[in-house]
Amino acid sequence: MDDRSKSSKTRRIILFPMPFQGHMNPMMQLANILHSKGFTISILHHPYNSPHSSNYPHLAFHLIPDGLSEDQVSIHDIPRVLHLLNTECIGPSRECLRKLLATHDDIECIITDAMMYCSKDVVEDLGIHRIVLRTSSVSSFLAFATLPLLQEKGYYYSDHNNNNNLESRRDDPVPELPPLRVKDIPSIQSQNPDVALKIIGNLVQGTKTASGLIFNTFPDLEEPNLPNLREHFRMPTFLIGPFHKFFSAASSSLLTQDRSAISWLDTQKPDSVLYVSFGSLAAMDEDHVTEVAWGLANSMQPFLWVVRPGLVQGSEWLESLPNEFLEITSKRGYIVKWAPQQEVLSHPAVGGFWTHSGWNSVLESICEGVPMICSSFFGDQTVNSRYINDVWNLGIELEKGFEREEIESAIRKIMVDGEGQEIRERALRLKEKVQGSLKTDGFSSQSLNDLSDFISSFKSSGA
Ligand code: UDX
Repeated sequence: MDDRSKSSKTRRIILFPMPFQGHMNPMMQLANILHSKGFTISILHHPYNSPHSSNYPHLAFHLIPDGLSEDQVSIHDIPRVLHLLNTECIGPSRECLRKLLATHDDIECIITDAMMYCSKDVVEDLGIHRIVLRTSSVSSFLAFATLPLLQEKGYYYSDHNNNNNLESRRDDPVPELPPLRVKDIPSIQSQNPDVALKIIGNLVQGTKTASGLIFNTFPDLEEPNLPNLREHFRMPTFLIGPFHKFFSAASSSLLTQDRSAISWLDTQKPDSVLYVSFGSLAAMDEDHVTEVAWGLANSMQPFLWVVRPGLVQGSEWLESLPNEFLEITSKRGYIVKWAPQQEVLSHPAVGGFWTHSGWNSVLESICEGVPMICSSFFGDQTVNSRYINDVWNLGIELEKGFEREEIESAIRKIMVDGEGQEIRERALRLKEKVQGSLKTDGFSSQSLNDLSDFISSFKSSGA
C-alpha cells in the first residue's frame, strides 16, 4: 500500500455487496457487525436493488453508476445478470473507489461479495487489500471449487440439467465430495451453460486471490470440511456466523415485509404452523405450484405461505392457485407476498419450515430450532438440502421434486409424527451450540475479534 498517512481515529472499510436479497442481507449484517467493532463503513452499491440507506444513518453509501437497465438485470437468467454486473461495473466501481481513496485517508480494505469477482480487477493497482465474503456454507462452496475435478471425472457437464448421460446416474454417490450424489452437484440454470460454468470458475479464482475469506457459518456445522477448505483456499479464513444473531435482516429487506403474518401466527397453537417460503429468486411453473397447494391442503396442517410476486411463472400473484384449494384452506392457511422471516421462524406457533434451502433461510431456521422440509432449485441449495437431510439430520429432503403425495407425507412426518419431534430435539441442541458460539469466548465472537485484528494489521503491513 502507498504510504498515505491515516488518521488514527477512524478505520474505514468499504463493503461491496451483490445486489440480490440473499447476498444483501448478510453483507448489510456484516456492515453493522464491523461498525459495532469500531470501524467506519462505506457501502458501494448498484442502482438496482439498492439497500435502504435511511435504515442505516451510521453508514455512508456510494452509488456505482453501472449504466445497466432494469431489463438487463431482471432475474430470468441469473448467470447473465451476474456476468453483466461483473463486466459492466468494473470501470464505474474502479472510478468510485479511486475517488474514495483520494478523499479518505482512513481506508483499511474492501470487503466484496465473492460473486462480485470483478473486484479483483477493480482493486488492481489501487493499493488496497481485498477480503471476500462468501455468503454460502463452506460445504457448498467446496462443491463449487471442485467442479473442474467433477467435470473431469464425468459427474458434471456444462449442460448439467439437460444431460442424458447423467439422468440414470442421478443417485450415484460422488466419492470426492461425500455425502453428495450426482444430482446434488450445484448447477446454475442458464440459457448459456458455458457462461454459468465460467462464472463459477471466476468466483473460485477471484476468491483464491483475496487477502482473506469470511463465511456466514459456524464450525459446529462445518468442522469436517474445514481441512479441505484450507487446502483450496490458503488465506486467513473467518467463520463468524450466524450474522443475523448479531443484527437482524429486517432492515435490508428489499420487499416490504407483511406484518399481518405475525398477527395471524398469534392466533395459532404452539408448534402447529408450517412456514413455507422459497426465498427471493426461485421460480416455479403452474404444475409445481398446484402440487404444492394440494400437498398443503391434504396434509390438513395450518400453514403460512410466502407467495412472492414472480414465484409462479406467468402469474402476477395467486391467479394460478386452484380456487378449491383457496376455499378449503381459508381457515387454516395464510398467504402473504413477503414475511418478516426471522420473526416468523422465532414465533412459538411455527413448528416447521418448508424451505428452498437458501443459506440464509437454513441458518435462520437452525438458530430457532425449527425442523425443515427441503426443496432446492439451483446453486448451493442442492448441497444445503443434502446436508440438512443426511449430515445434520435437521430435516427431510423432498426427493421427487414437487409431488403432492410426498409433500403431504413429509409435512405429516415433520409436524405430526415422532420423526419431527426427534428432529426438533436435535435442532434445539444445535440452537444451544449456536448460542455458545456467540458468547464472548465463543468461536464466532473470537473469530470476529481475529477478523478485526487482521483488518487492523493492514495499516502496518501495507497492501
Ligand atoms: C440466494 C440463493 O438462492 C441462496 O441459495 C444463496 O445461499 C443466497 O442467495 P435466496 O434465494 O433469496 O438467496 O435465499 P436465502 O439465502 O434464504 O435468503 C433469503 C432472505 O430473505 C433470508 O434472509 C430471509 O429471511 C429473507 N426473507 C425471505 C424475508 O425477509 N421474507 C420472506 O418472506 C422470505
